[in-house]
Amino acid sequence: MEIVIQPDPELAGDLIAQEIVRLYRRKPTAVLGLATGSTPLPVYEALRRRHEAGEVSFAEGQAFILDEYVGLPEGHPESYRTVIRTELVDHVDFPRHALHAPEVEAEDLERAVLAYEWAIRDTGGVDLQLLGIGENGHIGFNEPGASLASRTRVGYLTPSTVAANARFFDDDESQVPRRCVTQGLATIMTAHHLVIIATGEKKARAVAQMIEGPVSQRWPASVLQHHTHVTVLLDEGAASQLELADYYREAYGSVPSWRII
Ligand code: F6R
Repeated sequence: MEIVIQPDPELAGDLIAQEIVRLYRRKPTAVLGLATGSTPLPVYEALRRRHEAGEVSFAEGQAFILDEYVGLPEGHPESYRTVIRTELVDHVDFPRHALHAPEVEAEDLERAVLAYEWAIRDTGGVDLQLLGIGENGHIGFNEPGASLASRTRVGYLTPSTVAANARFFDDDESQVPRRCVTQGLATIMTAHHLVIIATGEKKARAVAQMIEGPVSQRWPASVLQHHTHVTVLLDEGAASQLELADYYREAYGSVPSWRII
């Protein structure tokens, strides 16, 4: 894992955006995996800006969302499809049909979920998967206890995730859907480059467990220790419980300037 500690979330977001721009220049058909929540918003903002400046085109690209609530109607402002459209797709030249999401309204949800897993495989794999992390160590909606070998499936939110996400639903936990579809941990691990962003002290414990703790279902993000190409972008708050923070700073300081992350 490469750990990059930045003074503020905007800088971290822009570094990821630069990496995505570089990816699309090298491979215009690149496949992105996209997370929602508040932490990746600076990435989408930077991508909109860089697209407007003519630095990048997504016209031949594809994207798969990481997870989705079950039970929100199409077009609901908090459905993750809507969030990705309003934060990114509607502002850049990404073809609308190139944004893939699990069919959470399907009558046969289990079948729809399998189809989503296969659709990801059929592309040959996600080139860059953007991830956030929950305070309880989840990635996607792979809550503590998720099998490290899990594939895309229907899941159920923990009370701590419901409480954390209530802020998107008028601070009313009863409005937060409990069921979800999420790419599994093993699905996420098939992406070529995993880029995870975490900001704020609330994430510090989960971040420390992910990077320096044992690999375990209790902290699902710790599975990333088994991937060969993971970049972790942190602000000082999220990095505050890392035992080896100074070493990570020094090591990233030594990377050649042509390499972004
Ligand atoms: C959302 C997702 C979640 C979030 C996590 C952190 O697609 O995959 O794992 O990344 O819940 O959310 P924020 O960024 O809102 O703290």
